[in-house]
Amino acid sequence: MQTNLRGRDVIDFSEWTRQEIDTVLDVAFELKRDRALGRPHPLLRDKVLAMLFFFSSTRTRASFEAGMAQLGGHAQFIESRTTQIAHGDTAKEIGEILGRYNDGIAIRNVDWLVGNKYLRDVAAASRVPVLNMQCDVFHPHQALADLMTIIERFGDPRGRTATISWACAASYQKPISVPQSLALLLPRFGMNVRLVHPPEFSLLPEIVEQAESEARRAHASFEVSHDFDAGMRGTDVIYAKSWGALRTTTDEAEGAKLIAKYSDWITDSRRVGLASEEAIFMHPLPADRNVEVTDEVIDGPHSVVYDQAENRLHGQKAVMALTMG
Ligand code: CP
Repeated sequence: MQTNLRGRDVIDFSEWTRQEIDTVLDVAFELKRDRALGRPHPLLRDKVLAMLFFFSSTRTRASFEAGMAQLGGHAQFIESRTTQIAHGDTAKEIGEILGRYNDGIAIRNVDWLVGNKYLRDVAAASRVPVLNMQCDVFHPHQALADLMTIIERFGDPRGRTATISWACAASYQKPISVPQSLALLLPRFGMNVRLVHPPEFSLLPEIVEQAESEARRAHASFEVSHDFDAGMRGTDVIYAKSWGALRTTTDEAEGAKLIAKYSDWITDSRRVGLASEEAIFMHPLPADRNVEVTDEVIDGPHSVVYDQAENRLHGQKAVMALTMG
């Protein structure tokens, strides 16, 4: 167990060792048990987390805020549009100033080619840890909750197969941060990962290379393909969600046309039937129901989407208790 985690940023779990992530998982499951037993755990009494949002959120905002309250502290909700950030407060000023008011700064900025740099600029100026609530490149706390959910279902995930697949969703060009954080994290735990997407929806090549290298190190596999059905065959974890063709085009109209080209990329019962009998269906939500995934699948016996959403709370509480204590 690695216990010296105070003050550490969580921008991408690749910057954390496997032993450090194991510590987070251990604490997260313990805090989940404590909550189930009604055992109070005020580990962050009088501590404050700033939660700065440049983009909308349901689960991330609610779980970080509830988590801080359960740890005996407070979370303040700050929106870029209703603050002077809209009139020019810089990342350095935000890091310096919010770092003096708070014990942690959590940020969501998913703007393409902007978000990750913004978080790192704030972190460079901040005296307290910066926690990534999703940027354009990574969504580490989602991947942590997803890993917890996989461990709860299968125990040691080593040797299990996870299919991270693109799926069609018409609503908007979603960030590529969820598949990228999963692609980096799951092979480190020995999972054989299949990354499946239409050619226009590739992830960042350096992330794919890093994922391949993590898989080699863990004696697991990492394969990229463009065939949804083949990717589903015999898999244990179906993680099928939409993301934008951001590496092909950042134009919303062009992106929408590309998404529409693959309207048959929906997770339905036929496709779930190709997977292993005990396969789980995962999605970080929100989902475009009956476009991305059918009601029958997302509300059906294979779906673990509410467990994933719940585990956001426990995983993040562990991160906050370890880094902000
Ligand atoms: N999964 C996730 O990050 O949900 P929100 O966008 O609602 O925070």
